[in-house]
Amino acid sequence: MGFLQGKKDAMITIKDRYAVLGQPIQHSKSPRIHQLFAAQTGQLLTYEAREVSAEQFITMVTAFFMEEGRGLNCTVPLKELAWRYADENTERANLSKAVNTLTLREDGAIVGDNTDGCGLVADLMVNHGIKLAGSRILILGAGGASRGIIAPLFEQAPQSLVIANRTIDKAVNLATEFGDKGNVTGCGFAALAHQHYDLILNATSASLSDQLPPLPDGLIAEQGICYDLAYGNQPTPFVRWGLAHGAVKSLDGLGMLVEQAAEAFFIWRGVRPDTQAVIELLNAERSASC
Ligand code: ATR
Repeated sequence: MGFLQGKKDAMITIKDRYAVLGQPIQHSKSPRIHQLFAAQTGQLLTYEAREVSAEQFITMVTAFFMEEGRGLNCTVPLKELAWRYADENTERANLSKAVNTLTLREDGAIVGDNTDGCGLVADLMVNHGIKLAGSRILILGAGGASRGIIAPLFEQAPQSLVIANRTIDKAVNLATEFGDKGNVTGCGFAALAHQHYDLILNATSASLSDQLPPLPDGLIAEQGICYDLAYGNQPTPFVRWGLAHGAVKSLDGLGMLVEQAAEAFFIWRGVRPDTQAVIELLNAERSASC
């Protein structure tokens, strides 16, 4: 009996630990997504959500990695702190000045990466078949979310990129900063009148408070598409605006969320999950909850 029990104990597998940190975090879909990825790919891991304020960030992250945690996702309001915290950052994280994925490397270094931009591009191009090459793109907002997507969008050779923001200086400064990547300009919302865009990306945080930037009519080109980086169980105000103003598609950021998670999962586990299956499941779940 004692021998058998001993054998059983020896077979208990220690699972690698991962988590997402942010505030608020209780509605995060990341634990569900990573658990689905793990089940699908046969990876043994745990992934939990932890409410962490900016003030608690350094203490919590240091403790997590000291206790053999393997990787963290960081979300609002922690991405810039995570970028500053990492021992090393990837080039795309440094361009974003924000990190959503921290990884404990074998030599003990904490490496920061940002998978948001490639998650967006994968959702647009692979999941929705949207052509970015040669397109006229408008980004609404000039905060952290916008900064993270500019370089990955330019990699797809759009014709032009305009950044419009409530605080005009921030849009102009961001455009100047990325000026060496391609044709990019910054302006306020009023300056958008009489212009047309093939793709309009809402990267403001307005949707989070159920608001909409003040957008002039006629912004959406024929066959134009709207995409909100935010998502919710109900269509966001910007998704509704797109539909009401003639977009052929008006999408929210659920697919981007799954794609950025898949890229983090690949960094941590070296395996690419099937994102399509997870997006379909999450979409079905939110349709059922409405
Ligand atoms: P994030 O990291 O999510 O990008 P952020 O860096 O605080 O957050 O940036 C929020 C962005 O949303 C900013 O561009 C902000 O505009 P300002 O720079 O003028 O503050 C924009 N934003 C937030 N609420 C908005 C609203 N109601 N209408 C228009 N823009 C809004």
